[in-house]
Amino acid sequence: MLEVDGIHTFYGLSHILFGVSLKVDAGQVACLLGRNGAGKTTTLKSILGLAPPKQGHIRFQDEDITGKEAYVLVRKGIGYVPDDRRIFVDLTVGENLEIAARRGKGRDYWDKKRVFDLFPPLQRLENRRGGLLSGGEQKMLAIGRALMGNPVFLLLDEPTEGIAPVLVRAFGQTIVRLKEVGLTVLIAEQNVKFTLKLSDRGYIIDNGRICYQGTVKELFENVEVRRTCGI
Ligand SMILES: Nc1ncnc2c1ncn2[C@@H]1O[C@H](COP(=O)(O)OP(=O)(O)O)[C@@H](O)[C@H]1O
Ligand SMILES: [Mg+2]
Repeated sequence: MLEVDGIHTFYGLSHILFGVSLKVDAGQVACLLGRNGAGKTTTLKSILGLAPPKQGHIRFQDEDITGKEAYVLVRKGIGYVPDDRRIFVDLTVGENLEIAARRGKGRDYWDKKRVFDLFPPLQRLENRRGGLLSGGEQKMLAIGRALMGNPVFLLLDEPTEGIAPVLVRAFGQTIVRLKEVGLTVLIAEQNVKFTLKLSDRGYIIDNGRICYQGTVKELFENVEVRRTCGI
């Protein structure tokens, strides 16, 4: 479904990504793991056209999308949940969801009711303003909003950052459910243990380079990976 091939991305003159390549197959969950500043967010932004790479290629559903603008990619079915959530603080939960609605192609589309089924706590908060939600509730709303666009492929940037351990587990179950209904997912995370458990394939990035990759089983069995990631 997604193929990133040797991308180099810069912010101004700063060279951030050095030949990053990765692949996500349809229906799978892949993860991009690495510590703070490793280049995870920049990789997701490169895919979504927010930080277009200077070199290399990105293919989505067999089409070259390198450098295409984010709104075009969202229409093609890529959903994005940024790490800083970016919900509308002055709109209610319900309104945040409604303005993101975009009808998908299939019959099995996401609407407000289905988002509430996935995140029951949001239902009773439907009329609360986004800015008054807790961090975890805002994360749910950000994911719900991306789902309202009916993506086929979801980019999730640090879904567990700054939330309580009990919620981390709940988010894990949510991601498993999204996979079960057929979504393809790429998660960027620092939380290695949590993320590998949900994933089919993993990539480990450091200093803008992929240093290890493989199936989750391969990564778990790799002594160097275990040492580097503390698992
Ligand atoms: N807008 C920016 N301008 C310049 N440098 C940036 C910008 N955003 C991130 N960086 C730098 O790029 C590197 C990778 O950052 P990032 O992709 O955000 O890492 P991660 O998401 O893995 O924490 C870091 O060294 C960071 O300081
Ligand atoms: Mg980041």
